[in-house]
Amino acid sequence: MVLTSTSSAHTDKQVQKTNDYSSVSKCSTAAAGYVTDEFMEHFVAKKARRTPLINRGYYVREKSIQTILLDFLAEASRSSINGECSNVPRPMVNIVVLGAGYDTLFFRLHSSQRDTMDQLDLRYIEIDFEDVVRNKLSNIQSKDKMLSLLKGFSEPRISQNPPCVINSSAKGKYLLVGMDLRENADFTALCTELNIDRFVPTFILSEVVLTYLEDNHVLRILSACSETFPSSVSLNYEQIQPNDPFGVIMMKHFTKQGTPLMNVPKYVSADSHQRRFNSTGWTSSVALSVSEFWHRFITVEERKRVDTLEPFDEHEEFVEKCRHYVIALAANGSFSQTFLRKYQSIQNPVKASVSSIATTVMSGYFPLYGHASAVVNLPAPDGTVLRAVIIIGGICATGEPKALTNESTSGICDSVEVGLETAAVWLPTSVLDGSLKLKLTFGRCGSLSENLACFVWLQVLWYIIVS
Ligand SMILES: C[S@@+](CC[C@H](N)C(=O)[O-])C[C@H]1O[C@@H](n2cnc3c(N)ncnc32)[C@H](O)[C@@H]1O
Repeated sequence: MVLTSTSSAHTDKQVQKTNDYSSVSKCSTAAAGYVTDEFMEHFVAKKARRTPLINRGYYVREKSIQTILLDFLAEASRSSINGECSNVPRPMVNIVVLGAGYDTLFFRLHSSQRDTMDQLDLRYIEIDFEDVVRNKLSNIQSKDKMLSLLKGFSEPRISQNPPCVINSSAKGKYLLVGMDLRENADFTALCTELNIDRFVPTFILSEVVLTYLEDNHVLRILSACSETFPSSVSLNYEQIQPNDPFGVIMMKHFTKQGTPLMNVPKYVSADSHQRRFNSTGWTSSVALSVSEFWHRFITVEERKRVDTLEPFDEHEEFVEKCRHYVIALAANGSFSQTFLRKYQSIQNPVKASVSSIATTVMSGYFPLYGHASAVVNLPAPDGTVLRAVIIIGGICATGEPKALTNESTSGICDSVEVGLETAAVWLPTSVLDGSLKLKLTFGRCGSLSENLACFVWLQVLWYIIVS
C-alpha cells in the first residue's frame, strides 16, 4: 500500500504519541521508586500508575542505558587524560539522542552525576520532530527545577535551518533540534550548522525510535552516524523476537496502536542487530538481550532492592519481556578496541565437547536440589582441556552429597547456550539438542525467596573443576 501524505502524517502523529506513553511509564517508574527522576512529571499531563511488570521494564531500560552511558563518559575522560585528545582538563564529549522525546536524561545526569558532568565539556543534542521539541522546550522553560540546571545557559536561540533551539553556556551546550530523521540524516552538515566538533568522543543513543522507521531510513541514519563521528559509541535499544508467542502479541499490539514495528521482522535477534551495525560502517559491535543485561549487569543487591518496591510474582513474564528487547552497541575509533568487550553476549558460541549431561547431579562440592547441570570439556587458554561442571539454578541442600549420576547423552557440541535466553520454565533443565547445542534452561523454584536463591546461583554459574 502506498501511503498518502495524509495517512503518513497520521502515522507520524501516532508515532509521536508513543513518546507520551513512554513519558507516563517513566513517570510511574520514578513514582514507584525504581529510578530517581524528579523531572519527568513535568512532561506528563495525566499521570497513571503502571503495572509492576511495566515499571520493571522501564526500570531496566533506564538503568541499562545510564550504566552504559556512564561507562562511556568514564572511558572518554580517561582517553583524554591519556593524551588522545588535547583538550584536557575538561574533555569535550558529545551526546546525540535520536528521537529523544521528553526523555530527561540530560537533567538526570546534571542532577545526580554532577561531579562527572562538571568535569566534562558537554554538547548534548536531542533530535525529534519539531512539534515534540517545541513542547519539550516550553515545558522546560516553565519549570524552575529544570531551568536552574540550565543556570548559566543563555536564553534559547531559535534557528530556522534546521529548526532548532540552542541553549549554551561556558559549561557546554544543550541543543534541541526539531527535524524528521528520515528527511535529514546529514549529521556532518548538522554539526557544522550547530558548531559541534564531530571528532570528539560521541555517544549516540536511540531508545525505541529506529524501530518505527523503514529499513532504508535506518540504514542511512546508522551509516551517517558512523561516518560523521569517527570516535563514537552508538546504543540502540529496541524490540526483537517477533515470531514466538510473546513476540506475535507484541507485534499485533503495536500494529493496532497504528505504530507498527517496521524493523523487527527483519532484525529478529541480537545477532542481526550486530550485523546491521557492521553493514553500516561501524568498526565493531555487540548486542545482548535486556534479559541478559538484567542478569549480568544489575547486581544482586540492586535486584533485591527492586524486589522490595512492589509485590511482584511475574518473573517468567518479566524474563519473556526482557528477552524481546535488545541492547545493540557499536563503536568506532579507539572505542572499538576494548570498550564493547564487557558487553559481549555470553550467547556467543563456546567451543566445547559435552561428555555427559546429568539431570540429577549432586556434586560433592555443590550440594543442591532443583538444579540442572552438565559436564563439558572446555578449551583452556594454555591449550589443555578443562573438565567443567556447569550448574544452573537450584537451591542449597543439606545432607550427603551424591556422585554424578544419570549420564544420559554425550557428543560434541559447537556452542553452549546458558538458559538466560530461553523461556523460563518451572525447573532448570539441560538438553543436548539435535543441532548439538547444549541448552541449559534456568528455571524457578516457586516462591519469591526460592526464586531469589535461583538468581543468586546465576552468579556462580560457571564452576570449573580441573580434572
Ligand atoms: C517511543 S518514543 C521514545 C522517546 C524516548 N527516546 C524515550 O525512550 O523516552 C519514540 C520517539 O521517536 C520519535 N521519532 C520517531 N520517528 C522520528 C523521526 N522520523 N524523526 C524524529 N523523531 C522521530 C518520536 O517523535 C518519539 O518521540
